[in-house]
Amino acid sequence: MNFRVNNTLIYFFGALGGLLFGYDTGVISGAILFVEQDLHLTSFTEGVVVSSILVGAMIGAAISGTLTDKLGRKKVVLAGAVIFCIGAIGSALSPNAGVLILFRIVLGLAVGSASTLVPTYLSEMAPTAARGSLSSLNQLMIVIGILLAYIINYIFSPSGDWRWMLGLAFVPGFILFFGMLFLPESPRWLLMKGREQEARQVLNHLRKGVGVEEEVRQIKETNEQEQGGWNDLMSRWVRPALWVAIGLAVFQQIIGCNTVIYYAPTTFKEVGLGNSAAILGTVGIGTVQVIMTIVATRLIDKVGRKPLLIIGSIGMALSLFVLGFMNALSGSTAAAGWTTLICLAAYICFFSISWGPVMWVMLSEIFPLSIRGLGVGVGAVVNWFANLVVSLTFPSLLSAFGISTLFIAFGVMGVLALIFVALKVNETKGRSLEQIEIDLRNRVVPGRHSAVPVKR
Ligand code: GLC
Repeated sequence: MNFRVNNTLIYFFGALGGLLFGYDTGVISGAILFVEQDLHLTSFTEGVVVSSILVGAMIGAAISGTLTDKLGRKKVVLAGAVIFCIGAIGSALSPNAGVLILFRIVLGLAVGSASTLVPTYLSEMAPTAARGSLSSLNQLMIVIGILLAYIINYIFSPSGDWRWMLGLAFVPGFILFFGMLFLPESPRWLLMKGREQEARQVLNHLRKGVGVEEEVRQIKETNEQEQGGWNDLMSRWVRPALWVAIGLAVFQQIIGCNTVIYYAPTTFKEVGLGNSAAILGTVGIGTVQVIMTIVATRLIDKVGRKPLLIIGSIGMALSLFVLGFMNALSGSTAAAGWTTLICLAAYICFFSISWGPVMWVMLSEIFPLSIRGLGVGVGAVVNWFANLVVSLTFPSLLSAFGISTLFIAFGVMGVLALIFVALKVNETKGRSLEQIEIDLRNRVVPGRHSAVPVKR
């Protein structure tokens, strides 16, 4: 095997699926205004067009989890890239709402599969000391994809050309496919399948020959089993990891990340910005997300995952409480408007350095190799499901209770998230994936495996 790509390109293309995840989920917020007029959508079909991608993503995450343990990480990403391209062209050319919904579901399949595969692939390629940073490139690509979508929406909104907005996703899909062709398979998956020689070659390439034999020995020693299944996922020793995955996946959504961001343009108008300034404000949010996610990639291996989650939960909950009470108490004075804006910005900053990246990173770290794809898949399905429930119920909850109550309710979720992290989540920083697996086993059968420290 001769890889003609250097390590930077491996991690770049490995993370690129995240960009499509971000672009395809973000682009619809601007495009829908024009789709609605052009295809004569009712408010119901409009809701279905927006949320159909989430349904597809749930299915995609569910299928690709098991598939990737069987076929490898690379093949399933390649299949996902083809689906991204088909989905982009299909939705851009849709003659009516029905076809558009269908292609949004198809796109969702690829988005869901990227959400499972990208973090898994990155964490299995990365050396322990930089695993957090490299795995959070996934979230960095997601927020870059969202920002790109906002910019494309801004560029095309004067002409209202929604077909270009949706269709341009073809370009990164195409690049992902060709980039991925030159990438190596995950060495951990190769070892699980007994393809030791190939795994060694990949590791030699990735680690420039340093510590490879030790890493191979550890991976082999830890994994007694080839591919596992549902029974293994439910077994007593894996169950704590499963609960952590489900908790992280649910809290990331019910803390309001997508809806608070979605509500931001309305807030900009409330503080007196005009229409186009409000759209530019949206680009501003996207930019803040990208900058703060870059900060997270620098912090995650130094500060650790758990402290970031704790700081993030506290910061988000406080921002939400102030947002809620300000909105409820002070009406629409200029001071209240600006406080709202500052809290919103603080909320986005805290989310971007914590729950945004850390949830996806930890999901890919906490499961044993033999069922990693399956486990990450289950976490991702739960995350998409929670996303769907929050998005579908948000408009009616908003009209029933008002935004102040909702902000406060999200704040309460932030407090619960904090308690969950403090009690249930164990730090994974600085531990190899194999040590994390051994820790999990030892919690049920102490001393069955000895943790061998690896220096990388
Ligand atoms: C995370 C969330 C996703 C959200 C994105 C940007 O990836 O899982 O739902 O859209 O962050 O905020």
